[in-house]
Amino acid sequence: MKINYLRVSVTDCCNLNCIYCRPLSLANHVPRSKLLRFEEIRDFVALAVQWGIDKVRITGGEPLVRNNIVNLVEMLSQIKGIRDLTMTTNGVRLEEFAQELKQAGLSRINVSLDSLDRERFTHITGYDKLLEVLRGIKAARKVGLDPVKINVVILKGVNEEEILKFVSFGLEQGLIIRFIEYMPIGGIGQNNRYLPNNFAKEIIERKWGGLEPLSSYNGSPAKYFKIRGTHSRLGFINSISRPFCSSCSRLRLTAKGELRPCLFTNFGVNLKKALGKKDKETKREEIKALFDLAVRNKVKRELSSLSNPQKKHQKAPSKFNSEIKERSAAFIEGNMFQIGG
Ligand code: GTP
Ligand code: 5AD
Repeated sequence: MKINYLRVSVTDCCNLNCIYCRPLSLANHVPRSKLLRFEEIRDFVALAVQWGIDKVRITGGEPLVRNNIVNLVEMLSQIKGIRDLTMTTNGVRLEEFAQELKQAGLSRINVSLDSLDRERFTHITGYDKLLEVLRGIKAARKVGLDPVKINVVILKGVNEEEILKFVSFGLEQGLIIRFIEYMPIGGIGQNNRYLPNNFAKEIIERKWGGLEPLSSYNGSPAKYFKIRGTHSRLGFINSISRPFCSSCSRLRLTAKGELRPCLFTNFGVNLKKALGKKDKETKREEIKALFDLAVRNKVKRELSSLSNPQKKHQKAPSKFNSEIKERSAAFIEGNMFQIGG
């Protein structure tokens, strides 16, 4: 598999504290002095582009809490060879930054949003910030950060009743809604919150009729569909029920400069020292060796360390099949929570 997608985490801090993500613990945050500097990120990305990277996503934590983040976008947008420069944000500060991000050269944006209900949003994230996020999404659309994709992690017994509401929201606002299977890593870390995406798809098809499959694009793990008779696209990211490791084209750069081959492993190579080298050629050679090492470990780990989380969940569709039917039927009849939320 060609590795062409780099996710760059610019901070591990976040201004929300989602129940399924990491609990906020300031003590564990990477100290500012240990964060990669923007120049170091730029130097690495400029090299990585020569070795096949052409899609770069800025992530966190929450990337918009990193000071002067617009400057980084500007620096990266000047690197020739990046055809997609994007960001994933929780949207809390998006209204403030949308215009500047667009001007700095960001191509488009993904926003994480798991509830359209103010109280539930506050329950999930720990903060009453839904209105800010909604304003941020509007601002992103307005300045042309297009398309705006909304990532909705479905948590059983928490927000599953909002699936159709999100579909309507996407239709009304011209957004691509993507339903994401909850991965039990960190946060609440409970398997009993997992709901396979077949559930969401079935509910949507009952209301909207069969979804029309679209060919996937940009090497995205999401499977896209069109709602017939509309221009609206929906995506499903089935990380658990249909793991996409064999087609994964990503590397991750952590905020403190580790290059990791995979979301599911702690293996990483530290770039910090090599990035500090004065001699250009030595720097390039050392970073290339580390880059190759990360890529080689990606291939190996697909077969070894990844087998655990995947194996555990591969059976999910059949195991959950009858439950999906039961729950979606109950959902349509409006008594979902009687089935044990
Ligand atoms: P697009 O380029 O717009 O398709 O974005 P993306 O899906 O690559 O990035 P985004 O940050 O929006 O991530 C969406 C979801 O993909 C996340 O919520 C994760 O659930 C999932 N995801 C991201 N990276 C990985 C990964 O390396 N492995 C797995 N299994 N899932 C991932
Ligand atoms: N399972 C699924 N998706 C997750 N995200 C964060 N934690 C998890 C998890 N445990 C999502 C966020 C964001 C994206 C980058 O990852 O909602 O949209």
